[in-house]
Amino acid sequence: MAKQGPRHAGRALFHEVFGSAPEVGASAPGRVNLLGEHTDYNGGPVLPIALDRRTVVYARAAPGFRFASALEPGVIERRMDEGPLGHWSDYLIGVVRQLVAIGCEVPGADLTVVSAVPAGAGLSSSAALTVSAAAALAQLARRRLTPEELIDVAWRAESEYVGVRCGRMDQTIAVCGRPGMALALETATGQRRMVPFAGSVRLLDSGLRHALVAGEYEHRRIECEEALRRCQRLIPGLTSLAEIPVKALPRIGRLLPRTLARRVRHVVTETTRVREGVDALRRGRRTRFGELLYAGHASLRRDFESSCEEADAIVALARKSGATGARLTGAGWGGVVIILAPERSAGAVVERIQAGFARRFGRIPQAWESRAGGGVRIER
Ligand code: GLA
Repeated sequence: MAKQGPRHAGRALFHEVFGSAPEVGASAPGRVNLLGEHTDYNGGPVLPIALDRRTVVYARAAPGFRFASALEPGVIERRMDEGPLGHWSDYLIGVVRQLVAIGCEVPGADLTVVSAVPAGAGLSSSAALTVSAAAALAQLARRRLTPEELIDVAWRAESEYVGVRCGRMDQTIAVCGRPGMALALETATGQRRMVPFAGSVRLLDSGLRHALVAGEYEHRRIECEEALRRCQRLIPGLTSLAEIPVKALPRIGRLLPRTLARRVRHVVTETTRVREGVDALRRGRRTRFGELLYAGHASLRRDFESSCEEADAIVALARKSGATGARLTGAGWGGVVIILAPERSAGAVVERIQAGFARRFGRIPQAWESRAGGGVRIER
């Protein structure tokens, strides 16, 4: 698959499984969030880039729903009216139900998925899947969805049907990503601005995988909701944690339970880091941008407690090895660390980090190079 890319592999898989050419196809990217972690469900800003790795979905109209993936043998048959099964195909049924809910009648579909986005690595393989599936299936229903409709269908599929109460960052960048650009998204208003982001990032995989549904992510959301209720008693009219001014943090620190105060401090300081980061990128201040990534990681480690030992080790090694910035990206508790380094030394920096990691953990972490890629597109 890797040799020819997911598009070619997707068509080949469709032929192999369903014995004909597909009628429609679409692809969407994973993402790397540069700055703004756990701010998207707290009314704050985020700054992701679309990955240059994509998920490709091909489909044809059919009487029922039959899905196949390059990652497992066989075909799974699903019904639209059944509940989630804890299987990847839930994301597809979630998409179908949301499409129908907005009047986009999907007849039934035979559908294949091939993805170059690693799952559970904090690179949003789930939004790559829901967005590409929604774009493919809407074609079967002969509907052109607006970017807002696509984002909404994909987000509702995940948050309402699959049951992960995520924010809207991943779906938005999977739809709106542009090559060479980062997306500055204000989640409180939906305002989107593109910010030039040339060059590449290196991604180092901690090797740990997270399970979002049952896990700590939901726990953090509940903590943030509780923290907001308490802060609203102190700051009348407050609607989200991201609105809290930095100067209110000492008072919040005195009045809230310690853990909740730390969660608030992360969201508030992360919000300022995103805004400063956008400014630093616009002015070409790469060193400053890198420092904000290091500060963001420290905040995830100490205040949001969503890091893990392996990611902390990679970030510490990155600093020692001459990286300008490094940070765990995505939901956390494992997955991928972004490394920023000057183009000419990036390869050597990554090798030093890998060697240091191998000395401590007995294995070499996988590394990739990635650039800001494009968002959803139709595939033939
Ligand atoms: C996951 C969610 C996003 C966001 C990040 C953390 O990727 O899907 O909505 O909350 O975690 O920043």
